[in-house]
Amino acid sequence: MFPSRVEITEVGARDGLQALTPFVPTQQKIALIEAFAASGLRRIEASSFVSPRAVPQLADAAQVVAAARRLGPTISALVPNEKGAMRAVEAGADEMVTFISASQSHSRANLNRSIDDAIRAVEPVARIAERSAKRLRSAIAVAFGCPFEGDVPAAKVSEIAGALRSLGIREITLGDTTGMAAPRHVEAVCERLRSDWPDLVLTLHFHDTRGLGLVNVLTGLRLGIDRYEAATGGVGGCPFAPGATGNICTEDVVYMLSELGVQTGIDLEAAIASARGLEQILGRTLPGKLLRAGPRSQLHALDAVRHAVG
Ligand code: COA
Ligand code: ZN
Repeated sequence: MFPSRVEITEVGARDGLQALTPFVPTQQKIALIEAFAASGLRRIEASSFVSPRAVPQLADAAQVVAAARRLGPTISALVPNEKGAMRAVEAGADEMVTFISASQSHSRANLNRSIDDAIRAVEPVARIAERSAKRLRSAIAVAFGCPFEGDVPAAKVSEIAGALRSLGIREITLGDTTGMAAPRHVEAVCERLRSDWPDLVLTLHFHDTRGLGLVNVLTGLRLGIDRYEAATGGVGGCPFAPGATGNICTEDVVYMLSELGVQTGIDLEAAIASARGLEQILGRTLPGKLLRAGPRSQLHALDAVRHAVG
């Protein structure tokens, strides 16, 4: 019924941190990525080569990526344009990720361009990726709804995916930037894309803004989709989308998958330890559930709790 193995891309160091102030010191970001790698995560989105004026938290992308690439996992980074791609190649990223919004309003807010102009800006990125033998994939933001415009037609998402495909891109991430997706909707968009472009490999990127994150993952699993993005501790959110909150939480997803008998190759205890480390770095409580409760295998001593004696 479900895929036997799922690949999780950890986006905590990118989506997770991008909207936060104050600046997280570069060494702490690198330590966080080291902890991700040690927990068994094989794909890590380490940063974004975007304008440091737009996203000051990720101004140290080059140092972070240069350190992360030595760790072993595939290190990806977001690139919005040619300049970003050149910076990513120079820093040694394994994989570049372009991102296009599925609504005009979010495209303007996020990239300061129309959708068509944003797609045109992928052309030089694709050339750089080819020349430097880097993998290139693309994310479609607000694919399940836009905080400015509301519903986004599946046909629009498919049209954008088709345009990216004609630039040679075969891996597409559908981003639920502000947690507007719900199961029926996930089915409709994924089925439309699969029917229009059967050779595209889909990854799902959900936010738990309205509490449907894991339900949406389950829906994806039922469709046979075996790639998901998640952020340790459930940290995250897009600074250019009002009301954006955390990504689905890596360790909670790993827990759900292990309870379903789906392999991830990620050590749950180590993933929870990474989340604790991130809470310490940020100095606040994160929304992840296992951070508080631990896995169900973690039992408590009866004499350690208060008893209600009538
Ligand atoms: N890396 C570093 N600097 C960049 C850059 C990049 N990838 N792209 C543009 N810049 C710089 C330019 O060099 C220029 O600098 P200058 O003023 O010192 O000459 C300045 O930014 C403006 O360049 P321009 O091409 O006009 O960009 P813009 O102002 O239209 O902004 C983006 C476009 C794409 C660069 C900006 O909107 C952006 O970085 N968006 C990222 C949003 C994001 O990360 N969202 C979250 C992920 S979903
Ligand atoms: Zn996101």
